[in-house]
Amino acid sequence: MVTIRYLVAIATIISAQSVLSADKVKLDVYYESQCPDCYNFFVNQLRPVSKQLFNYMETNLVPYGNAHTIRDGDKVSFKCQHGVTECLLNKIHACALARVQGTNLKRVLLASCLFDHYKTPKIAGKLCSPKFGLKWNEILSCATGSEGIELEDKYGNETNSLNPPHTFVPTVAINKNRGDDNFQNEIANHLKSVICKTLAEAKITPDACNQ
Ligand SMILES: *[C@@H]1O[C@H](CO)[C@@H](O)[C@H](O)[C@H]1NC(C)=O
Repeated sequence: MVTIRYLVAIATIISAQSVLSADKVKLDVYYESQCPDCYNFFVNQLRPVSKQLFNYMETNLVPYGNAHTIRDGDKVSFKCQHGVTECLLNKIHACALARVQGTNLKRVLLASCLFDHYKTPKIAGKLCSPKFGLKWNEILSCATGSEGIELEDKYGNETNSLNPPHTFVPTVAINKNRGDDNFQNEIANHLKSVICKTLAEAKITPDACNQ
């Protein structure tokens, strides 16, 4: 009897979780590490909204933005909008995100922490890594080595496959929909209301949406 009750409880938890993951709003965030608009988005929108609504959001972070990938035979390198320090910080994002364990929220908090110090990539990496269980020396050697190139190449391919191409950063897709410039503007300035509206269309009404 105890066993059956236990199994029923487990089954209930599993089904509740799968319903929930199907009912999450999916965000794809295309950004680069040193653009001021990206800083504003992470610090003033994505981080606070994710803290409130993490049970209802599934966020994919793509740190590449307006960079360019240069292929010379087997050699791959990058040219970044804000120069070589941005290329380094993009790779620090990529390497840290590739290693961090845990939830989607943790990934958003990690990237946001890097934005808190975005003008100084190495200080950002050094301060944020230990807060998320990461070793800074490992992140730095990834970011300055072949693994960082490989990860950024992948993010570059993901960004460059956008159709139509993005024209500014950050660019955000909500359930794979980027909409028009007005929609992007609304996401950039009123993310919570966009998420809550999207959830309401699926008849999901979290308490946080009424606050
Ligand atoms: C990115 O795309 C290029 C060109 O299609 C391909 O050669 C390369 O292997 C891709 N990189 C990764 C990491 O998938």
